[in-house]
Formats: sequence, C-alpha cells, structure tokens
Amino acid sequence: MRDKPVALIVLAAGQGSRMQSDLPKVLHRLGAVPLVGHALAAGRSLDPEQVIVVAGHGADLVRKAVAKLDPDAQIALQEQQLGTGHAVQQAMPLLEGFGGRVIVLYGDTPFIGEDTLARLAGHDADVVVLGFEAADPGRYGRLVVSGNGLERIVEYKDATEAERDIALCNSGVMALDADLLRALIGQLRAENAAGEYYLTDLVALARAAGRRVDVVTCDEAETLGINTRVELAAAETAFQARARAAAMDNGVTLTDPGTVWFAQDTVIGRDAVIGPNVVFGPGVTVESGAEILPFCHLEGCHVSAGATVGPFARLRPGAELGADVHVGNFVEIKNTVLDEGVKVGHLTYLGDAHVGEATNIGAGTVTCNYDGVGKHRTEIGARAFIGSDTMLVAPVRVGNDAMTGSGSTITEDVPDGALAIGRARQVTKPGLALRLMAALKLKKGK
Ligand code: UD1
Ligand code: CA
Repeated sequence: MRDKPVALIVLAAGQGSRMQSDLPKVLHRLGAVPLVGHALAAGRSLDPEQVIVVAGHGADLVRKAVAKLDPDAQIALQEQQLGTGHAVQQAMPLLEGFGGRVIVLYGDTPFIGEDTLARLAGHDADVVVLGFEAADPGRYGRLVVSGNGLERIVEYKDATEAERDIALCNSGVMALDADLLRALIGQLRAENAAGEYYLTDLVALARAAGRRVDVVTCDEAETLGINTRVELAAAETAFQARARAAAMDNGVTLTDPGTVWFAQDTVIGRDAVIGPNVVFGPGVTVESGAEILPFCHLEGCHVSAGATVGPFARLRPGAELGADVHVGNFVEIKNTVLDEGVKVGHLTYLGDAHVGEATNIGAGTVTCNYDGVGKHRTEIGARAFIGSDTMLVAPVRVGNDAMTGSGSTITEDVPDGALAIGRARQVTKPGLALRLMAALKLKKGK
C-alpha cells in the first residue's frame, strides 16, 4: 500500500472568524511561519506527488503565502465555504488522472506528526480516519466504531446523547484512494444540522459501498486546531517547548531555554551554544560548534562552524557567515557573504556585500548600499583592513590586502594592496580650545 503515490489536500478556506482578524486564519504565524506551513511541512514528509491547498477567505493572500512556503503546491478555490466535503470537491479537478492515495489535512492544525502521517498513509483500509481519545470531546465529530471497523462519523450537532458520550473523536485527517474519493464525493448531501457538505459522511458512504474503513489513533496534542488568538498563543508555547527540547536532545546548548525562540525550520548543529534571548526567524541554519551570544535576531541566514555572533547582532536574509567568522555587538548583516575568519566586531552595517577571508571590518563601518532607488554591491577582498567609521559608497570594490583609513568615505575602487584615505585633512590650532571656552563662558555670564 505504502508504495502508492500520495496527493495531499490541505483545507484552508475557512475564515476563522473567532480570530477576530482581517488576516485569513491559516496565515497567522506559529514558529515564525504561517500556520498552513506546518501542515504543508508535515505533509511533505510523505513525499507527495501533488499538494493542493483549498483556499477561500483571503485566497489571494493564501496563494502568495503558499507560493513561498511550497512553490510546487497548487491552489483550488472554494468561493463559498459549504463544508469540508465541498472543500475537498473543489480540489478534485486538479487530481484528474491521479490514481494514488489522497490525504486530507487541515491548514489550522499544525501539530500532526510525521510518524502519525506515515502510519495513516501506510494503513491498507480503503478509508483511514485519524482519531484520538479526547480528554474533553466537546464539539468534535465522534467516531462510531463496531466490530468491523469504523461505521460512520457523527458530527456533534447531529449526534444523539448516547453518541455524544463517545470519547473517540475525529481529527479531520483522512486517507483514501483517489478513485474511491471520486466515486463517492458527488454523493455527499447537505442534509444535516449545519446544512453543510460533511467530508465525514464519506465514511458511511464507503461502508455502504462495502469498503473497509478503519481508524488510526494519535495523541490528542497532535490534533490541536487553532480557532482563537488565545489558542494560537498556547500553541506557540507548546511549539517552542518542543523545539527547545528537540534542540537540546540534538546536542545544542541553550543557556536559558525559555528565552530562545525557534522558527518551524530552524536547524542547529550539535554543540552549538545559544545564549539567552535569541530569536530565530525562518530559514536559519547554525552549524556545529557555532555560538550565538545573547540578544541576537537571526533570519534567513547561515552560520558556519566555529563562528560567533553577538551579543546584540542582527543577521538578516542572505547573511552567510563562513567558518570562524566573528560578528560582534550592534552589527547588522544583510545579503552578505563573509568568508572564513572575517571579523566584524562592532556597530556596523554590511548589506549586499562580499567580504574575503580574514578581512577585518572596523567599528562603525557602513556599506552605503541604497541610493534611494536601487541597491548596489560592495566587494571587499581577502585580508583587507577597513578602518573604523569607513563609509563604503556602493558600487565599490576594495581589493585584497587593501586598507582604508579611519573615517574615510570610499567612493572609488581601491586596488589590491593600496591604502585609501578619503577624509578632510586635520587642522590643529594651538591654545584655541582654551580661548574659545573662556569666550563662551564670558558670554553666558552676561
Ligand atoms: C471538522 C470535522 C469534525 C472534526 C473536526 C476536527 C467535518 C464535517 N467535521 O469539524 O468531525 O472533529 O473538524 O477539528 O468535517 N474548511 C474549508 N472549507 C469549508 C469548511 C471548512 O476549507 O467549507 C476548512 C477550515 O478552514 C478548517 C477545516 O476545514 O481548516 C475544518 O473546518 P471546521 O469548520 O473547523 O470543521 P469543524 O466543524 O471543526
Ligand atoms: Ca474546527
């Protein structure tokens, strides 16, 4: 069964009105990425042939976000939210000709584990529903099980008192053959308490067609769906707790774990040390043995082995730190490659630049990369020495083994091995400070 190709349908058309937000619910962030990114990432672990996100509310925004998260994902539009079954129906045209296994996930349910999905996808019943024993079953759909598997799913609104006593609940995740789905989906009717097309009715339809339907269960924590901002905050807490524990289990030292914030895709190598109050945005990798000192913010960047960053440094997208690079306090790096052994110790902005190996960047250096319209590049060679408070007006190139004088504004290329000084010559007036001060005091006294 498992060798069947998989297609993923992620339901994300609902408004999420209880979020009290203009933003579609699935675009609220958890672990620094939109909620829907979590379902997509978990689903990707099944190596699906096709990924379809069903969008409705804020579909344009969802489309844009999905394109970034998963460029190969397709969007199916559900103009009116007539139920989960109706949502899946909107994806069917995109699945024409697909003969494998379809897995339905919810975009607002971020914690479904990869192992759970693998168990679900590997199960050989015709329809497999992911269920869980709910501590408080509340308004979840209930799984009605008999001796020969799952009979049907009854929605809370439609359930009898006896059915409401069932603790085995529907997570919403379901796996079934595309051909069966195609055959049954047109048979859904909105004749129920909600007046919606329930995806859950597929279970009874499959049973009526003589198919085998079964339940795979998982921990309730995995099925947690986000409906309110309070739930989102609680989910963030849970996500961070897990991310911190996972990092430490993988050999990362977190000096004060509760103050380190991870993104969904943060990758940190063994024996890296992360100080207190470090925040990871999306797209960060930190290699083995690197050290991130307190109060740093990193996003879209790569820190190589042996590098040290911070305290109080900001690495923005495209920052590439080579081995043993040192980036110190109040330094911002954007779209810049620092080759091995570069030192940028203090109070510096490097943007759209490349710095060759073992170069030293003095305090207060700025790549003046933006002219108000376009961005321009700064190239700095290997073993160069950039004097403190150098303004590098891009586009500009400083050669290998070159130097710039402190306080220079460099507007022209500096050849290999040259020293460039671009500042006003100093004038010194003996005794003038004393005379000037006396004159100023006299004036104030009057
Ligand atoms: C659904 C299940 C219920 C299950 C629960 C788990 C049905 C009929 N019920 O109920 O058995 O216990 O999830 O959380 O399936 N969506 C769309 N288009 C729609 C309707 C929903 O895309 O027309 C999306 C929503 O954005 C959401 C997901 O589907 O991500 C679930 O919808 P929701 O309305 O929350 O379903 P529940 O009533 O909670
Ligand atoms: Ca729900």
